[in-house]
Amino acid sequence: MSIKTALLNGVLTVEIARPEKKNALTRDMYTAMAEALRGANEDKTVRAVLIQGQPEIFTSGNDIEDFMASPPSGEDAPVFQFMKALLACEKPVIAAVNGAAIGIGTTLLLHCDFVYVADDARLAMPFVSLGLVPEYGSSMIVPRLMGHVKAAEKLLLGDPFTGAEAAEYGIANAVLPAGEVVRHARRVAERFNKLAPSAVRESKRLMRRHSVERLQDTISVEAEIFAARLRSPEAQEAFQAFFQKRQPDFSKFD
Ligand code: COA
Repeated sequence: MSIKTALLNGVLTVEIARPEKKNALTRDMYTAMAEALRGANEDKTVRAVLIQGQPEIFTSGNDIEDFMASPPSGEDAPVFQFMKALLACEKPVIAAVNGAAIGIGTTLLLHCDFVYVADDARLAMPFVSLGLVPEYGSSMIVPRLMGHVKAAEKLLLGDPFTGAEAAEYGIANAVLPAGEVVRHARRVAERFNKLAPSAVRESKRLMRRHSVERLQDTISVEAEIFAARLRSPEAQEAFQAFFQKRQPDFSKFD
């Protein structure tokens, strides 16, 4: 299993563990993460959720082979189930990011409550480079966080950015030495053991209620376009280029 979960001292850890494929997320992995997050809501002993990857990689995003073999379409698709479960998580979610966080690896951070990044972290949303469009509300949230022109660098050009930049834009709370990130994130998660649990849940809900409807609407509009684009010749060219370890050639498209 490439998603490992463990409950220790009130913290449910969801660990992405598929280093041989740079922690690329398959349908089964999304399903496992969705189940873990839903379970956290039900389990009174869970006070916080910690999402982490491996020391050298957070996640390289959606498994591109999966995209080609079984592109997500309807709302039941595992990726959308995961997105919904993270949005619906009533407990605080803390992310610890070491190494690269690509595609949904970055956009999922926009829905966590605390994000700690390593000084070697590298974030990127290269959707357009793959012939795709931004997902998981990033077309709305990223321009709001950093302004349109910086967002255009990240979402249209797909330029990567550092952990320090992520903290500057308000995507991350703090940048830490790589070896400290998980420990620090866990310490923050464990602070919820001492706080009143329903006050925490209600406060999280209040903090989000103003934007939740617009966000859900954005996510579903993005998902519809994204699903159509997955089947587009542009995306097919980009996926093939990835596996052939070459640059995509978009010159024939208009
Ligand atoms: N989907 C499927 N397989 C992936 C993957 C992904 N998102 N990311 C990496 N892999 C696989 C590679 O195909 C390779 O498999 P192989 O050993 O069978 O050839 C293996 O993982 C190692 O990846 P590699 O590219 O050789 O590692 P790297 O250290 O040179 O680069 C990344 C790491 C993360 C920068 C690079 O793999 C990458 O850019 N991945 C794609 C990220 C992406 O575009 N994600 C967005 C999806 S929306």
